[in-house]
Amino acid sequence: MSLRSLLTTGLLAASALAAPPAYGASTVTKTVTVTASAHCSSSTSHSTSHSTSHSTSHSTSTTKHSTVKTTSTKKSSTLSTVVSSSSTASPSSTSATTTSVNTNGGGGTTTILATATATNYGLNDAAKAAGKLWLGTAADIPGTGEAADPYYITAFNNIHDFGEATPANIMKFEFTEPQQNVFDFSGAETFLAASAGKAIRCHNLVWSQELPTWITAPTTPWTNATLTAAMQNHIIKTIQYFGDRCYSWDVVNEAFTDGAVTNYTSNIFSQTIGPAYVVLAFDAATQAVKSNVNGSSSVKLYYNDYNIENAGAKATAAQNLVKDIKNRGIQIDGIGLESHFIAGSTPSKATQQANMEAFVALDVDVVVTELDVRLNLPPTAATEAQQVVDYYNTVSACVAVPRCVGVVVWDFDDTYSWIPGTFPGQGYGDIMYQPNGANTPLVRKAAYDGILEAFLGLPEAL
Ligand code: G3I
Repeated sequence: MSLRSLLTTGLLAASALAAPPAYGASTVTKTVTVTASAHCSSSTSHSTSHSTSHSTSHSTSTTKHSTVKTTSTKKSSTLSTVVSSSSTASPSSTSATTTSVNTNGGGGTTTILATATATNYGLNDAAKAAGKLWLGTAADIPGTGEAADPYYITAFNNIHDFGEATPANIMKFEFTEPQQNVFDFSGAETFLAASAGKAIRCHNLVWSQELPTWITAPTTPWTNATLTAAMQNHIIKTIQYFGDRCYSWDVVNEAFTDGAVTNYTSNIFSQTIGPAYVVLAFDAATQAVKSNVNGSSSVKLYYNDYNIENAGAKATAAQNLVKDIKNRGIQIDGIGLESHFIAGSTPSKATQQANMEAFVALDVDVVVTELDVRLNLPPTAATEAQQVVDYYNTVSACVAVPRCVGVVVWDFDDTYSWIPGTFPGQGYGDIMYQPNGANTPLVRKAAYDGILEAFLGLPEAL
């Protein structure tokens, strides 16, 4: 079936879609007033208990989730208080208790009175106040324990913190087309149901990893033409199926190598089709968008990669790709800057800002798509303080660039982070964690405050 006929049929009609179930977790909120200038004042009220850090003031003055708490290790004091619905009840109950936990064995303890009120203000609210579309998070739903963790789900559900969601795995090729031209979007539908009310950055269509075996070990060896057709069929049917339920698609992910001289990464697509597979992928995606099946005409098309957050050979390769695709009259709307950083070696705010502006100058948007800042375990007050600075600088750079339209963290809870499994001895990269493990109250880290300060345009209060 030719590319054109695939387009006109719009094979998968909207009617196949089940209505998403509503997730009803109510939130317990702390009494908080959030006016940037008042911060310091609110910190005064807390400084008695947290003489060392203002981050707690930020966090106490912002958060509203039932199950999230604050730690602040800045200035080497470790304090944490848990404001959970109640340590025994599931997050959806509305009574509030306070518990204090000493995270790193150092520093004092404190209590914060929490009462349930209607007022809410979180990272997503602050992002929007800073002119961004959202602050979002990746979530590995379904698949890992996240979906079954009531504390995780309550925090994930809080639209005041997370206005966007990215599927960490379930919309990848391996899961959406397990056999050739046999699509399975059931897992993706579960993710979308869990993310009701959030914008969705759909991720990803063509990548070297998480590919089905019929692609990686075909019964008949691929030719340029047969693999091109299979790749384009995948792109078109997937974009058309989800239509405008996706704000954007990462059409191609991580096509370039690292290093002073960058090339195309070696994978089944570059080996069989050649570097042209990237342009062919965007061409197919452009046709799918133009077909406007299920409202797909609104979908933005992104190239997503890591180590392109500062000027260098790889960022230049991505910029040349943008120019090439645009010169061919093919659609590309944005660049995803993954931003998987290491505390202490994260590009400065100025470096990241200049890099974002270099991409924007090519008439594309940028998004910080997979932000986390990992550190060597165990965390120390110094490395955690540096982590806050790195989160702050990354978000501040985005705030300073109007066409940096949003920031997404690559999951928000260390319990479910990809980092320890990939980088042994490292971790603690997200903005919250569960000191007592999965299915227990979340603890909001100073990194959360770093993001908030940046969106609120506050100086990073070291
Ligand atoms: O689906 C299998 C499951 O059947 C099996 O029981 C389980 C246990 O081994 O593994 C499951 O597959 C895992 C998959 O995540 C789904 O959870 C893979 O082993 C695991 O390698 C895979 O890791 C994902 C990784 O991409 C794959 O490279 C991470 O969760 C995901 O966070 C990570 O995300 C990538 C972005 O897509 C692109 N940028 C970098 C980022 C981090 O690597």
